[in-house]
Amino acid sequence: MTDDKVIEFFPNTQKEDEKRIIELKELIKRHDKAYYIEAQPTITDREYDELFKELQKLEIKYPQLITEDSPTQRVGGDSLKEFERIAHVKAMLSLSNTYSEVEVRDFDRRVSEALPGEDVKYVAELKYDGVALSLKYKHGKLDSAVTRGDGFAGDNITENVKTIKSIPLSIGDLKIEGKEIKNFEVRGEVYLTEQDFLRINELREEAGEKIYANPRNLTAGTLKLLDPKQVAQRPLKFVCYYFDSSEINPVSHHENIKIIKQLGFPIGESIELCNNLDDVFSFIDLWEKQRNTLPFQIDGIVLKVDSIKQQEILGTVARSPRWAIAYKYEAENAQTLLNGITLQVGRTGIITPVAELEPVFLAGSTISRATLHNADYISERDIRIGDTVVIEKGGEVIPKVTKVVLEKRLPNAIEFKFPELCPCDLKSPISRLEGEVSYLCTHPECPWQIRRRIEHFASRNGMNIEGLGEKVVEQFVELGYLKNVADIYSLHQHREEIKELDRWGEKSTDNLLEAIEKSKDTSFHRVLFSLGIRFIGEGSAKILAKQFKVLDKLKSATIEELNSVYEIGDKMAESVFQFFRNDKELEIVERLRDAGVNFQLKEEELVAKDMTLSGKTFVLTGELSSMSRGEAKSKIESLGGKVTGTVSKNTSYVVVGDSPGSKYDKALKLGVQILNEEQFLETINK
Ligand code: IVH
Repeated sequence: MTDDKVIEFFPNTQKEDEKRIIELKELIKRHDKAYYIEAQPTITDREYDELFKELQKLEIKYPQLITEDSPTQRVGGDSLKEFERIAHVKAMLSLSNTYSEVEVRDFDRRVSEALPGEDVKYVAELKYDGVALSLKYKHGKLDSAVTRGDGFAGDNITENVKTIKSIPLSIGDLKIEGKEIKNFEVRGEVYLTEQDFLRINELREEAGEKIYANPRNLTAGTLKLLDPKQVAQRPLKFVCYYFDSSEINPVSHHENIKIIKQLGFPIGESIELCNNLDDVFSFIDLWEKQRNTLPFQIDGIVLKVDSIKQQEILGTVARSPRWAIAYKYEAENAQTLLNGITLQVGRTGIITPVAELEPVFLAGSTISRATLHNADYISERDIRIGDTVVIEKGGEVIPKVTKVVLEKRLPNAIEFKFPELCPCDLKSPISRLEGEVSYLCTHPECPWQIRRRIEHFASRNGMNIEGLGEKVVEQFVELGYLKNVADIYSLHQHREEIKELDRWGEKSTDNLLEAIEKSKDTSFHRVLFSLGIRFIGEGSAKILAKQFKVLDKLKSATIEELNSVYEIGDKMAESVFQFFRNDKELEIVERLRDAGVNFQLKEEELVAKDMTLSGKTFVLTGELSSMSRGEAKSKIESLGGKVTGTVSKNTSYVVVGDSPGSKYDKALKLGVQILNEEQFLETINK
């Protein structure tokens, strides 16, 4: 008998359902906190989803019982036309910036002079590089979320903020010195991790959408979206650094931080109470060295006088408090001359402007070129040839031009006008499609596109043909051996000629032909990715391969069928559909297939997954030496097992690493089977 039938025959009473709704909301809230704030999940994702679905079902049955703080209300409400403006009760100030030890000592001197004879303690914190936010709670519930705006009034973005999982929609009972805290304001910073930023930008670039310069801009852009459902798609994070309530008299900033934490808000990664300036400088130095290890960006540290009474005495000047300063770290950047702007044609015809720079050393390497992304990027920043520009290493590898040093602009700096013709030999007209940021060359025989497509096809993440790099492709295209990717598999016909070319010999020629032969066995999703279909990156190629399994099914798929695949959006569906309706592309694909290139999922990808741990429940305690807890969890789940946080008589195994916690004692008490690391590895590697 299924659960549904049980419900049919023995329906729960409304009272029982109501009780369960309350219970589920509490449970989900607890798990949200464990996951999003403490980063220590206590149940598996699947168990969490089950609780969530159960609550959703009950709320559909009793819509009158949906409360505003229900976790189901985080998915994003209706779109707005514009944001309402709300005034701040206390102005949201900004901080004065300092850049040197001397300036910090000056600040300390000013503070001491205003507080004669008093002992001053400071709190040092990380300065998160995000967007400031004020949250007001009334009767224990989130009432409003407002941006900083001009410091006096900001935008009401409550609906967007409700989607941020680390922000509690309501808070539990908390008494400080016998007084309940239910009405208060907290402030903090909304931010995105660098990894999430790069991932979102990559997807946007793949989809031909505008990319963001840094995580802060992406965060700001996200919070400004009028559709909360879109906001819910972005994994925004929150960190809290300010608390104010008329219900208690706060004594110190560090006590406030404790309250913030007890209320269930995430607090900064590193907060230190400093007794003197030496402590402050150690903190500054430590994070200057270690800031690259943080998963999010900081642009400095914030130094605050700890005592609230002293803060009040010090007061505010202009729009900054006298009791706090920011110590800003230098962004890794350099200034250099922009000698020119050249154009690069990508494999899909997208034309990217590239900055040709006077070579300059930045963060470990000499840089002479940097991307300028597209025409809008150049005009928005008013970048002109001959300007002195600032370059930064954005999100690690690719350097970019961030801005112009206007004070250094010379009168003869030249405005850049996007040409009307493709820079290749064919000089065909280029155009900008409606709603897209990039110019496009649509000539099917554009030699630059051909080169890029072949390079892409042979690249490491594509067919991985060793020896067929940029230079060789350029040479073979020029010699007429390669006109498209299918010609690669006819290169053996030119064996004798290649052997005689400069820097080629018998051995290198045969090595290349062997690598080409080997590539025929590449997995289906990589072959699909290698074809260079517009908007289809590695991720979407994998999804398509898994879904359609063989080429012919994918070829004949309708737009609707393509679109109905999870994560395949409109643009991707349209692009795949058109690709397989294009005679030239079809001919190439058929030639590849005739040459023996693999166009279907392989045996091993088709067979069912190994589910040896299905039905088994694991609890992990202590540290494992061979893998992190997260890795162990993923491994168990990939084999069909479950990981939970509490030991019960239903637990199948407790895996015990170094310095185990109380779960070990409980396992012994209940007689649950215990696995040491070696036994655990044996179990998962069977
Ligand atoms: S305290 C009156 N603490 O930096 C001071 N701000 O320029 C209120 N920020 O608008 C701010 N991390 O957006 C403070 N740990 C931190 C911070 C921080 C980032 C931002 C905040 C503020 C700006 C000040």
